Amino acid sequence: MGKCIFVTGTDTDVGKTVIVACLASALMRAGKKVAVYKPIQCGDLLKGNIKSPDLALVKELTNIPDRDLVNDFSFQLAASPHLAAEHDKVKVDIQTIKDHTKSLLNAYDIVLIEGAGGLIVPLTRTYTVLNLIEDLSVPVLIVSRASLGTINHTSLTVNALKSHNIPIIGIILNYFEGGIIEEDNKKIINTLNNIPVIGIVPFSKNIKNLAKDFEKYVDIEKILQS
Ligand SMILES: Nc1ncnc2c1ncn2[C@@H]1O[C@H](COP(=O)(O)OP(=O)(O)OP(=O)(O)O)[C@@H](O)[C@H]1O
Ligand SMILES: [Mg+2]
Repeated sequence: MGKCIFVTGTDTDVGKTVIVACLASALMRAGKKVAVYKPIQCGDLLKGNIKSPDLALVKELTNIPDRDLVNDFSFQLAASPHLAAEHDKVKVDIQTIKDHTKSLLNAYDIVLIEGAGGLIVPLTRTYTVLNLIEDLSVPVLIVSRASLGTINHTSLTVNALKSHNIPIIGIILNYFEGGIIEEDNKKIINTLNNIPVIGIVPFSKNIKNLAKDFEKYVDIEKILQS
């Protein structure tokens, strides 16, 4: 049975896909068989084998084979999944995601699941990303911005997970550019939440370089031991 890591974020565009891709690269370098699973993709769909733009980005940043990039539902509208699904007249079947997670865990050492947006994003009118994480019983890695505003967003995300007794592997601060505020954010987020900041990922003009030496920025051992 493999290990599952659910990667969530404090927001959309916070860098979940980039972090998932870099993590997949690092874990593959550590000899692990990795699947990247994006159960629901909304908007900007591509033509061809890989419709999900997130999975296409993972492919671009890693040498992961297409068969290890998995998506169940993809919708045209770049909106919250509940609305994007309704717009395409499709129902997101949560059982499909649960079953698929199980079968992937039987076939891979590590399954990296990327949610959609943040925790309180509805997948249906009555079921959120947080509900899915709870039902899957999997630990979570939080990706958040390093910049001003992150103390509140990151702490609210941590609190929501804690209140549902969901284990948190750690926090990765993305788009780090240094300076007095961001340097302190690393410390205060740790102190306020008692959850380790296990990675500081710099803003990079060439994100391909991040994937090449992600071990420099993120404590991969901590993730493997979680
Ligand atoms: N460390 C970084 N340095 C520079 N650019 C980055 C970095 N991390 C992410 N980006 C860029 O920011 C954008 C958003 O990143 P990404 O797609 O990973 O976010 P996301 O949280 O997965 O968004 P979504 O909620 O849409 O899935 C992308 O264009 C990506 O290339
Ligand atoms: Mg993404």
